[in-house]
Amino acid sequence: MSNKMWGGRFAAGPDEIMEEINASIGFDYRFAAQDIRGSKAHVAMLADAGIVSRENASAIAAGLDQISSEIEAGTFTFSRALEDIHMNVESRLAEIVGPDAGRLHTARSRNDQVALDFRLWIRDTIESLDLQLRDLQQAMTDKALVHAGSVMPGFTHLQPAQPVTLGHHLLAYVEMLSRDRGRLADARRRLNECPLGAAALAGTSFPIDREKTARGLGFDRPTANSLDSVSDRDFVLETLSAASICAVHLSRLAEEMILWVTPQFGFAELSDRFTTGSSIMPQKRNPDAAELVRGKTGRIVGALTGLLVVMKGLPLTYSKDMQEDKEGAFDALQSLSLCIAAMAGMVRDIEPDLKRMKNAAGAGYSTATDLADWLVRALGLPFRQAHHVTGALVKLASTRRIGLEKLPLEDMRSVEPRINAEVFEVLGVDKSVRSRTSYGGTAPANVRFQAKRWAARLAKEAASSRT
Ligand code: ARG
Repeated sequence: MSNKMWGGRFAAGPDEIMEEINASIGFDYRFAAQDIRGSKAHVAMLADAGIVSRENASAIAAGLDQISSEIEAGTFTFSRALEDIHMNVESRLAEIVGPDAGRLHTARSRNDQVALDFRLWIRDTIESLDLQLRDLQQAMTDKALVHAGSVMPGFTHLQPAQPVTLGHHLLAYVEMLSRDRGRLADARRRLNECPLGAAALAGTSFPIDREKTARGLGFDRPTANSLDSVSDRDFVLETLSAASICAVHLSRLAEEMILWVTPQFGFAELSDRFTTGSSIMPQKRNPDAAELVRGKTGRIVGALTGLLVVMKGLPLTYSKDMQEDKEGAFDALQSLSLCIAAMAGMVRDIEPDLKRMKNAAGAGYSTATDLADWLVRALGLPFRQAHHVTGALVKLASTRRIGLEKLPLEDMRSVEPRINAEVFEVLGVDKSVRSRTSYGGTAPANVRFQAKRWAARLAKEAASSRT
């Protein structure tokens, strides 16, 4: 039997394999809510414009509401033979309303319909990701406030570089997440134009009111070019690109947590809630959640690459290739949501070992820069020369396998005779972090200030989203 939605010129139905490769209902059922919302806005506009009768329009709207309840209740039967969500809904509507259900598709095509559904879905998803990211920022800010003065090693090249504070480290991620939220918000702002009414590709001869449907669906305006409306998926690409960058940020923190909880680092412990044991090695406590946050980044970035490749080389306008735009995006954005939730849980639960972090902060001659700076400040040496002198002192200390603070004053003087006892003031890690008072630096007072600034900002956002 040929397809009842479009089979007019077909004598036979599709091959089994054709049906399988062609159908998208297996994944685009997720658009059900958006599809019905779009159809209700469309039919209301058709009635206002006098294109369908009020009577038909209200029967169609009631039928759509019924379908929505059936889907929610789990009693709706999705059929692969009907290809996709659009035709599944419309076919059921015909069963409920009768032949007048067919008036819904006036001045519309599945091409503008799917473009609309996907925009609505992405918009909803961006909104819920934003809330989750704000929650993660909150968890980090709370921890940063507690640990504004907790000293840990700051690394470059994964080598001890200079002491920093744990609060400062966490706030670095709060900043990254804030830019991630900004990128998602930008994507949302740009996608917020309504493609409905572009019809198949060229627009329609019916006197539709695109401003009305756009406003009814919460869009800023209708899209201005019908060809563009049905053929671009840049709103998905932008969102996946923002999602990929965000996932990369989370992955870096996950990697750090994985390092921190090794016995070798011993900087922190993750809670039982976010670790697993080994079925053979009883001592193990594996940071699986963090590893999966790191690992899932692969599929999120993969979805972006996948869709870029799908779109590349497609002539305007719609081609069926574009049906391949959905699964990767669904998977990637759902994965990102899970990663954010897992990361928020890990951050809330993580227990830093402050003593070990502080000890490690002093290892590897991490206050050498403080010593060089002191030589500049106290003795007036040019920085390059101070760097050289400090290098010689580090070499001396390291051949004796002692820290800089343990190097006797007379030995220091053998390298630079003007050094005096005041130098020991700057060689401790606490002094070191306290001295980094430049704007954005790691001094605990700065970190406390920044953490409070974030706390206030997040509280304000939470309050305004409640009203
Ligand atoms: N299921 C299709 C998709 O996801 C809907 C659009 C179909 N349009 C068409 N001209 N066959 O892309």
